[in-house]
This record gives sequence, C-alpha cells and structure tokens, in this order.
Amino acid sequence: MLSVDKEVRVSKIKAGTVIDHINAGYALDVVKILGITGHEHQVMTIAINVPSKRIYVKDLVKIEGRFLNKQDVNRIALVAPRATINIVKDYKVVEKLEVKLPSIIEEIVKCINPTCISNAGEPINSRFYVESEEPLMLKCHYCGYILEKADVLRQFLV
Ligand code: CTP
Ligand code: ZN
Repeated sequence: MLSVDKEVRVSKIKAGTVIDHINAGYALDVVKILGITGHEHQVMTIAINVPSKRIYVKDLVKIEGRFLNKQDVNRIALVAPRATINIVKDYKVVEKLEVKLPSIIEEIVKCINPTCISNAGEPINSRFYVESEEPLMLKCHYCGYILEKADVLRQFLV
C-alpha cells in the first residue's frame, strides 16, 4: 500500500545560518531587518507557522552561505527576542547563540522624534530603554518618545 508522507521537510543546509525559534509570524521581519531583498544569490528558506517542540508554533529562516555579525544578531533581538541562531558548517551546527534583547539599546536604533536632542546634529549616541519586548516598545532616554516595532523596522529597510 502507498504511504503518504504528510510532513514537509525543509532540507538541511551545508554552510550558513539557521535562525530558529522566531516567534510565529515574525520571519519576514527578521529577513527585512537583515537587509535581505530576495535578489541575493543565496539559497534561503523561510518557514512560517511550523509546529515546534519548544514553542507551539514558530518561524524559521535558513540562509545558505551567510554568517551573521554582532550587529545582525542585535537587530534580530529587536524583532525575535527568543530566537536561536545556529551557525552551520559542513552540515553540522558548530555554534548556537541565544538571542537576547538587552534592557538598554544604544546606537542600533535612532529616535524618530525630530525635536529630540539626539537628532540635533550633536554627537550624541542614541539610547533606549526596553519598556516591553512584545509588543516592542523602546523609550528614548533623551525625550521619552516611544518607538514601536514598525518605527524600528522602517530604519532598516533597504
Ligand atoms: N539545521 C539545518 N542544517 C544543518 C543542521 C541544522 O538546517 N546542516 C537546522 C535544523 O533543521 C534546526 C536548526 O538548524 O532547525 C538547529 O539544529 P539542531 O541544533 O540540530 O536542532 P535542535 O537540537 O532541535 O535545536 P534546538 O535545541 O535549538 O531546538
Ligand atoms: Zn528621543
């Protein structure tokens, strides 16, 4: 008798990065925040709402041939604070990094309040307090303005 395989298996990658345990629905934001347009010549897999052991459902992004730097990891923390980053070499996970959103964010994000002193052309580093992770709310140290996830994502659009 024919057995029907109902499971879709996403293939393993040879070398690159697997961003796992992304909160369901956030994979496209992760891709956006990494500056990926889809016109790169890399093989990528984006999986949305797949069943997971650790969290009920999750999203997943696999990027063949790309290794993330510290800035990439910090950016991912803004939209997927529970993600795991797996560095794959020769088909094996050689490194696993847990993404963590720090309580204070400096330099990665700019305040969008035009009258904020951090936008006055002075050499001031931006500084935000994480008021909430989900939904993301960042409070500017200088003017108290609250940035939301959409305000942050807009800054990383290519
Ligand atoms: N992976 C991949 N290609 C590889 C190796 C791993 O795409 N050559 C993917 C796996 O499919 C999985 C993720 O990388 O989504 C992490 O792999 P692994 O550490 O083997 O899985 P788990 O033990 O389930 O990870 P965790 O404990 O973080 O859930
Ligand atoms: Zn401000």
